[in-house]
Amino acid sequence: MRLSKKSFTSTAIAACLIALTGCATSTAQTSTPTPKFDMKRCVNMGNSLENSKSQNWGGGGNIAPEDFARIKAKGFDTVRIPIRWNDYTGPGPDYKIEPAFADHVKGIVDSALANDLNVMLNIHHFHELMEDPAGEMPKFEALWKQIAPQFADYPDDLWFEFLNEPSKELTGDLMQYSQEVAVEVIRKTNPDRVIILGGEFWSNFRQLETNIAPPDDNIVYTFHYYEPFDFTHYLAEWTKPNMPDTPRGWGNKQDRADLKAAVATVTAYRDQVSRPIFLGEFGAYTSLEHDDRMRWIKAVRSEMEAADIPWCLWAYANTFPVYDAKSGRWDADTVSALGFPND
Ligand code: BGC
Repeated sequence: MRLSKKSFTSTAIAACLIALTGCATSTAQTSTPTPKFDMKRCVNMGNSLENSKSQNWGGGGNIAPEDFARIKAKGFDTVRIPIRWNDYTGPGPDYKIEPAFADHVKGIVDSALANDLNVMLNIHHFHELMEDPAGEMPKFEALWKQIAPQFADYPDDLWFEFLNEPSKELTGDLMQYSQEVAVEVIRKTNPDRVIILGGEFWSNFRQLETNIAPPDDNIVYTFHYYEPFDFTHYLAEWTKPNMPDTPRGWGNKQDRADLKAAVATVTAYRDQVSRPIFLGEFGAYTSLEHDDRMRWIKAVRSEMEAADIPWCLWAYANTFPVYDAKSGRWDADTVSALGFPND
């Protein structure tokens, strides 16, 4: 596996790892960021294009143009489209993306843009890369080599997020190397497009400092917020047990202080690096007591907005849905908690 690049060598990575703060600060002093990043309120098109090829998690890839029209009319300005590209390729070394899948994704992106929404697309659920970064890095690189040119002539309200939630073995210099690979490959065909980077440990807000500080004005950072996890994911089947016997509830003085402290951590990092930062995922499972859940969504959304941090709810019609596809209705309480009118 290669671990060095012209622009950002492994030695530089190591130096930054030893003195992360200094590394990020020096970039802040030299860069004059100007990305067109006018996102405020976003929703994740979850469980549609990032479920595994053999499974249907409910969305089944069936995002319709009406969904984007509805999302826009409600007041969202942006959609995040998670995509499991890695399940739709041929063998290495080319890892050719299946043309039918690529066309399907393109149609969905076109439809979102046609509804005047900003669109971010990513590589989502590339679990093999998290387990075996060195072995899977060529595939990761091959994916961006194919995705990026496909959208090279698209308007600048399409953004690329390098990878959802780096985790497990994809940490430290390996994680930074994967960011560096994505930026370098994307920049060959998309010189100015916004590229979004989320740090290690599932892009937790505490790990923002693990992001690379590339000499590139159009890099935006992201983080996810599901805290406290034993609250937001209470009895969620896809997470590990370690849950209290009874729901812990949310909203006491300490809970609110913790949320404010998290926001302060994010804004301090934003000041340090002088780049936009946004909340790419937040949400709470429907197993929770309804009022607790709404209180948490409203509090997180309000605190982010008060600090001018754009947010993206997980998710539109699945997992923690704000829209009920069966009844064809928005969830009125979630809509209110997000600060939108119910009409
Ligand atoms: C995952 C989803 C999951 C959500 C909430 C996302 O990052 O991709 O599969 O439902 O987090 O746990």
